Amino acid sequence: MQSIVIEGGKRLSGDVKISGAKNSALPILCASLLAPGEHVVSNVPELQDVITMGRLLENLGAGVQSSDGVFHIDTENLAKDEAPYELVKTMRASVLVLGPLVARLGSARVSLPGGCAIGARPINLHLAGLRDMGAEVEIEHGYVVAKAKRLKGARIYLDTPTVTGTENLMMAATLAEGRTVLENAACEPEVTDLAACLSSMGAKITGAGTDTVRIEGVSELRPMKYSVMPDRIETGTYLAAGAITGGDVRITGCEPAHSAALLTKLRECGFEIEKGPGWIRLKGCDRPRAVDIKTLPYPGFPTDMQAQFMALMCVADGLSVITETVFENRFMHIAELKRMGADIKVQGNAAVVQGAENIFGAPVMATDLRASASLVIAALAAKGSSEISRVYHLDRGYERMEEKLRGIGARIKRVG
Ligand code: UD1
Repeated sequence: MQSIVIEGGKRLSGDVKISGAKNSALPILCASLLAPGEHVVSNVPELQDVITMGRLLENLGAGVQSSDGVFHIDTENLAKDEAPYELVKTMRASVLVLGPLVARLGSARVSLPGGCAIGARPINLHLAGLRDMGAEVEIEHGYVVAKAKRLKGARIYLDTPTVTGTENLMMAATLAEGRTVLENAACEPEVTDLAACLSSMGAKITGAGTDTVRIEGVSELRPMKYSVMPDRIETGTYLAAGAITGGDVRITGCEPAHSAALLTKLRECGFEIEKGPGWIRLKGCDRPRAVDIKTLPYPGFPTDMQAQFMALMCVADGLSVITETVFENRFMHIAELKRMGADIKVQGNAAVVQGAENIFGAPVMATDLRASASLVIAALAAKGSSEISRVYHLDRGYERMEEKLRGIGARIKRVG
């Protein structure tokens, strides 16, 4: 099994170019199921999750070809309505085929995703929303089986502003009869990007990016030609990497407005931040001040940046309280960070981090995608060498990470 070896203590400097957003690309690829024909999606990051999504679409009968981040998807003839367990179990976002399949074919069989390292992660709100739109939804032998002749527009209140739930229901509603209103919808930029993509296909959507999204159903959509927005979590990860080494990094090809909560916190830590259209520059300070964060739905501090920010707080001056409110079990990285000498105590859904002058290289193990990124960041600042095993987690969500980090001076290599 492959691992990543990092020799810590090198100040990072230079430019890093950001890839297309994983969490935008995945729903957009699924949206191709809504309209028969030849779709072209560009700025798609080359990631394991994207490859899995391509397989899932092929399994449904779509023709999928990709090169250099451009996907050509032919959804003229779909042969099946099933997303099998083997594919869904490796990637929860597979559930995003549910809404489009029911809307286009009138039926879908999608394996229940089950739990994952960061919590139970149910999909009850996806299912309740489809039921509100008139679908019959049953759970049979571990599969969600949904049927509807034609979905009907409905007023749907989401108990929690679920991101993929909002996306699934928004896609389903584009082809429903009448108007759907999603209340307490997720406001994440990925939802807005998907809405823009759907609108380019002829969907009638207003309010995406706010907590009330209105969709006027249409009888058919046309194929898309769409470019995926930049990845705000990758952006944040490289900012944190630059920050922890006291470096001077410029992130290019990004959307600074999507990182507002993180940039506010980085400034509070004492980092100098400059930004302009499509770029952010972070200049290091001697040692960051410890600050508190609380993860929240967008525009709050993203849960997907919590682990990376915690790594930074491990070397900050003072005490930081990091509260996780989105997922119930997203502290798997703490045990590994402690192996590098970090001083962290967990109290319920809060982690209390006492910053240390130094942390030290150690063999550590990646447990999920963002936890792995936090270990990479910690290793960049640690004294000595770290070996991070189970890097397949990183490959799910970061395109060419070693190459990008090496480009700004990191001593990093993949072994095995
Ligand atoms: C998406 C992102 C993930 C990110 C998360 C929160 C993708 C592919 N993944 O995941 O990277 O960490 O948003 O920003 O876009 N919930 C329910 N019932 C449901 C659905 C969700 O109770 O039916 C709860 C979850 O358990 C969790 C909270 O809602 O506590 C938010 O989860 P959700 O927004 O759905 O996360 P995902 O869409 O799975």
